[in-house]
Amino acid sequence: MTIKKSTMIIRDNLNKVILGVTLRVGLSAHTAQALATGRYPLLFLTRSIRFIICLLLLNSYAAFAQHRPSQNFDAGWKFYLGDDSLAKQPAYNDSQWRKLDLPHDWSIEGRFDEKAPGTTNEGSLPAGIGWYRKSFIVPVADKGQNIFIDFDGVYRNSEVWVNGHYLGKRPNGYISFRYDLTSYLNFGAKANVIAVRVDNSAQPNSRWYTGSGIYRNVWLVKTDKTYFTQWNTIITTPEIKQNSATVNIKTNVHRVNYVRTNVLATIRDGQNRLVASQNSIIESGNLELNLKVPQPKLWSVSAPHLYQVQLLLISNGKVLDTYQTKHGIRSFNFDAHKGFFLNGQHLKINGVCLHHDAGALGAVVNAHAIERQLRILKDMGCNAIRTSHNPPAPEFLDLCDKMGFLVLDEAFDMWAKKKNKFDYSLDWKQWHQVDLEDQIKRDRNHPSVFMWSIGNEIREQFDSTGITIGKELVGIVKSLDKTRPVTSALSENRPKKNFIYKSHALDVVGLNYHIESYADFPKNYPGEKFLATETMSALATRGHYDPVSDTIVKWPHSSKEKYATGNPDLTVSAYDNVAAYWGTSHEETWKIIKKYDYLSGMFVWSGFDYLGEPVPYPWPARSSYYGIVDLAGFPKDVYYMYQSEWTDNPVLHILPHWNWQPGKTMDVWVYYNKADEVELFLNGRSLGIKRKRGDDLHIAWRVKYEPGTLKAVSRFNGKTVLEKEVKTAGIAAKIELIADKTRMKADGNDLSYITVSITDKDGNVVPDADNEVKFDVSGPGFIAGVDNGLQTSMEPFQASSRKAFNGKCLAIVQSKAQAGKIMLTASSPGLQSLTIFMDCNK
Ligand code: GAL
Repeated sequence: MTIKKSTMIIRDNLNKVILGVTLRVGLSAHTAQALATGRYPLLFLTRSIRFIICLLLLNSYAAFAQHRPSQNFDAGWKFYLGDDSLAKQPAYNDSQWRKLDLPHDWSIEGRFDEKAPGTTNEGSLPAGIGWYRKSFIVPVADKGQNIFIDFDGVYRNSEVWVNGHYLGKRPNGYISFRYDLTSYLNFGAKANVIAVRVDNSAQPNSRWYTGSGIYRNVWLVKTDKTYFTQWNTIITTPEIKQNSATVNIKTNVHRVNYVRTNVLATIRDGQNRLVASQNSIIESGNLELNLKVPQPKLWSVSAPHLYQVQLLLISNGKVLDTYQTKHGIRSFNFDAHKGFFLNGQHLKINGVCLHHDAGALGAVVNAHAIERQLRILKDMGCNAIRTSHNPPAPEFLDLCDKMGFLVLDEAFDMWAKKKNKFDYSLDWKQWHQVDLEDQIKRDRNHPSVFMWSIGNEIREQFDSTGITIGKELVGIVKSLDKTRPVTSALSENRPKKNFIYKSHALDVVGLNYHIESYADFPKNYPGEKFLATETMSALATRGHYDPVSDTIVKWPHSSKEKYATGNPDLTVSAYDNVAAYWGTSHEETWKIIKKYDYLSGMFVWSGFDYLGEPVPYPWPARSSYYGIVDLAGFPKDVYYMYQSEWTDNPVLHILPHWNWQPGKTMDVWVYYNKADEVELFLNGRSLGIKRKRGDDLHIAWRVKYEPGTLKAVSRFNGKTVLEKEVKTAGIAAKIELIADKTRMKADGNDLSYITVSITDKDGNVVPDADNEVKFDVSGPGFIAGVDNGLQTSMEPFQASSRKAFNGKCLAIVQSKAQAGKIMLTASSPGLQSLTIFMDCNK
């Protein structure tokens, strides 16, 4: 190789120079070819040349830069439901244990039981103790590496051993945590054994369904001895101008001995074009960089532009570690008078609260299930989620970043004072600081996360400990993230009586319910910023209608009443007129929030029905009635009220169905937008034109039922906007199937949600059909769960059949890791069956 002076220039995709280096190097044609093909041993080159070449290769070979230290560790576990202290020993014989892949929730596999210790609040499903074990080989080549295991979340009280060594305990069921396995591992042929004991036996410990087990993903992380420490890379955008934004990156590198290392930071846009880069030598453990992104594309809820930030830790031409994350450039602020602004533009926070379960899948985390929930909410116009009342799965936040949701990331449902005998209050003293710190550190790079909540309806709000703990927690948050406001969801709305408020540590006052206090908020909380952290608690069963719709009913009626003397079949009418006594109908609260700008927005309780908390009823009700969408993911009618208010799409929705006893009088409601009138017709006869007046959110007709067709026509300036019909259905004759996905990934994880409707011979959904539908699947797929949204159904979620409820049920098909065609046949005695296909590709 001949050495001479030459200049190497690295250009980005737009041909702009990002790195120009003058070096004394000359490569013979032979050498250059060898390098390009990877045959030339980098070690024989001088250090500076190695570094330059490495950079060149990084720019040219994306694959090299994609080096990822973390691998999914979900496959091939063994599970035992029960307790056996010997199971921590590596030599323990687990050959009789069940084989499974994570994530896994054993509660959802169980039967509903009136005597379940978690009560109906936790969904009347079993809890208990379970063990997981996994054997794995670590290649000799990994000797000298650090090897960590990362758990995204285990419910609850997990204890972990590797090769018999105790690694630790983590009581909190929603927090992510890591153990360092390095010093206990066998390298080479001898297998290693991880054993995890999960103890969810002390019950009750929650006010909602939690699931039990390793219900989130697990990762094995291999790094060099010099590596980016976990959750210590912080990315913010301190300055955003129209033609450039400053992205600030702080990172931390752990090293045993001093080795000269460089950090190459790159930022790529949504089209994977390099837009900024910087190469720095890291002298101490910490490094801070400022990169300029030209013409920044802002992240917003309607256009969630994301950049990809990558840090490569390089030493001697070798990439030691990689850190990669998405970054959104956005700014926001709350104003006491004008409400909320995102990127300088006024935005009402139209949010919902969500618990973490995925209905029939239980607590099992599957990104496709989360994506479906978010898609349904997005289509409704929802722009924000409150992760009530705990940190969510990482995949949830990734999806919110990508799909454009603001996230109020909540830490706790209780502090030191309990809400249930065996809840987290028992762990509070020892764990709250580390749990809160870990949550903030894990989640602070997500653009979707715009606020932190230090707790929901915390009992300390009623005495002076609310001041001390409130201050302490806000202090913890602020020590790790000063870019986001902190709130707490307060149920005591009188400022003088609320001690968390009186800590004066909150940036934004979060109020739950009590809409009567909204109008006087500026007077009672002068200068404060408002957010309705929780609202409504309205109740409904999908597709069920009680005749009177124009009076608001409170079930239960007051704090003296535990359960409602409601409907004998434990249904709740889906006209928006039933709520728990502390709540309101959907319309009541939205009208107020909509009216005043200083009310920055709200989070409806709740977006979806969830397992547990079946207010207003006792057993056998076992899942909630609060959702805008039912447990199976089928919208209740009020979904369309929100859609008509929160989106620009033309909406016209009629309720109820049109199958009643002749002569019965029913209220017909219509939700609409983009029109100034609606005319209703029954069997071709006009029942009159109606218009929303004042702050009306729907219009209604009282109609004497006769079978036939109810038709609504919405018009603007006399021109038809939309027409909708509801027809009296005949007897059940057919099955209709709609898959939300007909092309699936053959990765063992993809889901297709199949909506099953029972229709008459003409395709009208039979509104009270409850036929049992059997599902047969062939090809590379299986049924992961079934549901119908009925809050009192005692049928198991993991089954190959399901009764329809009010004309509908659901089958969730999961792909296997093989390509092929999945065939699903749905059949039911007396009905015409149907088969659909899903293509499964690698
Ligand atoms: C709230 C509480 C929620 C849920 C809701 C039901 O007070 O914060 O977790 O229980 O009531 O109405």
